Parts: sequence; C-alpha cells; structure tokens
Amino acid sequence: MKTLSVNHLLGIKQLTAEDLHLIFETADHFKEVINRPIKKVPSLRDITIANLFFENSTRTKLSFELAEKRLSADVINFSASQSSVKKGETLVDTVNNILAMKVDMVIMRHPKPGAAQFLSERVNACIINAGDGTHEHPSQALLDAYSLREKMGDLKGKRIAIVGDILHSRVALSNIFALQKLGAQVKLCAPKSLLPQYIESLGVEIETDLMKTLQWCDAVNMLRVQNERMEVKYFPSTREYAMLYGLTMEKLEQLRKEIIILHPGPINRGVEITSAVADSDQAIILDQVENGVAIRMAIIYLLAAKLNITAQ
Ligand code: CP
Repeated sequence: MKTLSVNHLLGIKQLTAEDLHLIFETADHFKEVINRPIKKVPSLRDITIANLFFENSTRTKLSFELAEKRLSADVINFSASQSSVKKGETLVDTVNNILAMKVDMVIMRHPKPGAAQFLSERVNACIINAGDGTHEHPSQALLDAYSLREKMGDLKGKRIAIVGDILHSRVALSNIFALQKLGAQVKLCAPKSLLPQYIESLGVEIETDLMKTLQWCDAVNMLRVQNERMEVKYFPSTREYAMLYGLTMEKLEQLRKEIIILHPGPINRGVEITSAVADSDQAIILDQVENGVAIRMAIIYLLAAKLNITAQ
C-alpha cells in the first residue's frame, strides 16, 4: 500500500506532490463510497478521533465528523467555549487528558498560527490541522484542488487566481502551496493593504486589478473578507471594496470565456461575491463542500494507516 510521507497533516508545505496525488486517488474511492445507498465502510472501526475546535466552524467541523463516521471511527467532539480551557487549562494539558481516554488522532482548529505544529511536537498522537489562525488550512486546499481537478483535469499549467483578503487567509497560503506542487500558475489579486509583505517570495504573481486577473485566469478562488481578524481598517469602505474586488455578473459578462469560481465559505454575499455569481452554474462552491467529506476521509484513512491500526 502507498503511504504518505508525513505522520501528521500540519500544512500543505510539508507534503510532496506524490502525497497530494495519493490523497486525490484515495478520495476518488471514498467519493464513490459516499454516493452508495450505504455510505459507510468499516475501515477505521478500531480508532478513536477527537475533534478539538477552539475557533468557530461549520463546514470543516461537520465535514471531518461525517468523514470519521463514514469510516466507522469512534468520535468525540470538544468545543473550547464549553470546556475547562475556560478555567485556565493549557492546550497540552487539555490534549493529554483527552489522549488518556485512548484517543488516537486529534483534529484541531485553533486561532494561533503554528498551534498544530506546537501540539504535534508535545503530545503522542496524530495531529490534523483544521485551520491554525492565519497560517494554513490544508484540508481546504486539498478539497479546492480536488474540485478544480474534477472540472479541469490535470492542473499543470492551469492559471488559478486567488482574490481578496490574502493577509488574513490560511486558505490562500495552503492553496498557493498545493497549486504550485500540482504545477499550476498562481496569481494573487488584492488591494496592497491585504497582501502580506513576504508573499512575493513564494513565487506567485501579484496583481491589484481584478479585471486583468479575471482575463488571465482559468479559475478564481474568491476569499472572504475576514472582518473578525481586522483590528484596523484595510480599505475605505465595504462598498468600495465590493466595487473594486467583488465578483459580479457584470464583470464576468465582460470576459470572452467562462471561468470556474470557488469560494471556501462562509460567504459575505454582496461583498467579495454577489448572490447571482455564488449561485450561478460557474460556481462550484457546493461541489467543494461535497468533495470535502471524501478528501477528509482520505486524509484520515491514510494517516491512520501510518498508525498501523487500520482494520483490514
Ligand atoms: N471553509 C471553512 O473553513 O469553513 P468553516 O470555517 O465553516 O469551517
């Protein structure tokens, strides 16, 4: 059996192109499984997974939980707001107490960049990063690339744009790493105030004009404006942002081609994307969500195989 080169999923940065292809091949199999009348397989009936969410989530949390249940794993859920973290317990103490209940794998979302890496170096369990602050969101990038691949075939040479609040986005960084490893060309488009200073060192092209970016690309990933991470104003007004960087039907109609539109969710309708675009046939937003379950089944299955306790 082919295996991943890593024992944890901390970020896309640590994965090889072969790892990405193995995850996609495995997800193809699980996508077929979850479209059967009986959507469950017994693959992970011997493992126990804890979902630790220190930050809000709808898609990622439910998608991981469903993936675990479809694989027949035992699942426990932890929400920081209802836990003893509120009484001052540290992250490592919290996780070690959960692991003492014979948990094998921890899936964690945390507001601090590097939290998944920090944990993986201090506790004895497989760690999957479900989003660490503004750093990485590897399972999102994997499902984005998988969804693009489903629509466009091999991503080698394809032109993919990422537009919007790059500065606060973990989705952007993970997508850049994933798309580059798959051979795609990546262009970022945002106001200068929403581009981190280090970003050009990653070998991506930068553009501040949305129409030029749309003319260039085969697909565009529209990022949410993350108001909750903004302590100061990064643009004069939401109305001006929407006018310059929001994706509208009028802008799409000016192109002499159809492009594929992604959004990781949750959507600010009328800000980075209008409802007409988000609900159009060009948008694959709900395909991304559907593919998220198969991708997360593949990630968990392949990492569980490295624990050597996967049921035969
Ligand atoms: N795309 C994404 O991470 O969504 P959630 O915050 O709802 O999990």
